Amino acid sequence: MSDIITVKNLVEIYSDGTKAVDDISFTVKEGEFFGFLGPNGAGKSTTIKILTTLLRKTSGAVTVSGYDIEKQAAAIRKIIGVQSQETTVDGDLTGRENIELQGHFHQMNTGEIKKRVNELLGLVGLEEAAEKRARNYSGGMKKRLDLATALIHKPKLLFLDEPTTGLDPQSRAAIWSYLEKLNKDEGITIFLTTQYLEEADKLCKRLSIIDSGKIVASGSPAELKHEIGADSIRISLENCEKDSPKAKELIKTMTDVTEVLDSEECITVYAKNAGLLIADIVRALDSSNIRLSSVTFSSPSLDDVFMKHTGRRIRTEELVKAPSRMFGGRR
Ligand SMILES: Nc1ncnc2c1ncn2[C@@H]1O[C@H](COP(=O)(O)OP(=O)(O)OP(=O)(O)O)[C@@H](O)[C@H]1O
Ligand SMILES: [Mg+2]
Repeated sequence: MSDIITVKNLVEIYSDGTKAVDDISFTVKEGEFFGFLGPNGAGKSTTIKILTTLLRKTSGAVTVSGYDIEKQAAAIRKIIGVQSQETTVDGDLTGRENIELQGHFHQMNTGEIKKRVNELLGLVGLEEAAEKRARNYSGGMKKRLDLATALIHKPKLLFLDEPTTGLDPQSRAAIWSYLEKLNKDEGITIFLTTQYLEEADKLCKRLSIIDSGKIVASGSPAELKHEIGADSIRISLENCEKDSPKAKELIKTMTDVTEVLDSEECITVYAKNAGLLIADIVRALDSSNIRLSSVTFSSPSLDDVFMKHTGRRIRTEELVKAPSRMFGGRR
């Protein structure tokens, strides 16, 4: 399949000298669900603004659907839909009027708009609230309305800048299912940014992880996690400061352990066969009188991928927890 987005050596330096995007290159294929995963300030919105012709790049080469981002910006705007990070709904208008207004901006005719608005209200589950003023919508409803608005002119490429940030798990799941439907049933290419690991993992066929303006890893979620090649065991100690040097020494000598790192909980161990190793760890710490408060283990997550490439975790609240198993603390 052909590339719908090509980005080569893209750089963005804001007027105050901030280098928000630092020489990134990637491509997105037609029909793909592509993700840009990264923490606050990584450069996600800056990249989306450039791709959607809202911000001029400092340097690099970008094409969208074969059009040059600067010379053919008008042609690009016709075929893309954009949901920006801040909701753009007009609170004085009803949900229906908000979508209609966008249709007029796209110079669609009234009959066409009417039909499409009804379809979209159905798609995002806002039929009942359609005649209510948008200022009285909840956060999740506003995001859904924003999504519908971005789709009025049947774009073939949809840009979504953190479409679920701040939403409760239920609203988030609803948006996920609309997006999957748009991608699978209507063949719309989706470029999505997110800080949520689970979201990127669930939705994106391929993604790039961005940090401080640089792409640190790219691939399918499965490929990226496979690269880690080990499960992670997260260990909390009752007295982390005092006991962790000794505990790390003990764990490092065990077979199948590939890496032992300091972490938020206290210690994170990467190992093959984590399930089997846990008993050894518990025993070894116990014989050295090191008191554990908890041990959890999980298969590699995109957070482990981020950790491997940056030495940090993506610090966001995860509303949907990764599957992990918990071993009770000793008192
Ligand atoms: N108009 C601006 N002028 C100067 N610096 C800016 C401007 N907009 C963004 N930045 C800076 O550029 C960097 C990247 O910001 P950007 O908004 O692209 O990040 P982001 O990945 O979208 O973050 P978030 O997840 O918080 O939305 C940050 O350091 C930010 O402070
Ligand atoms: Mg942003």
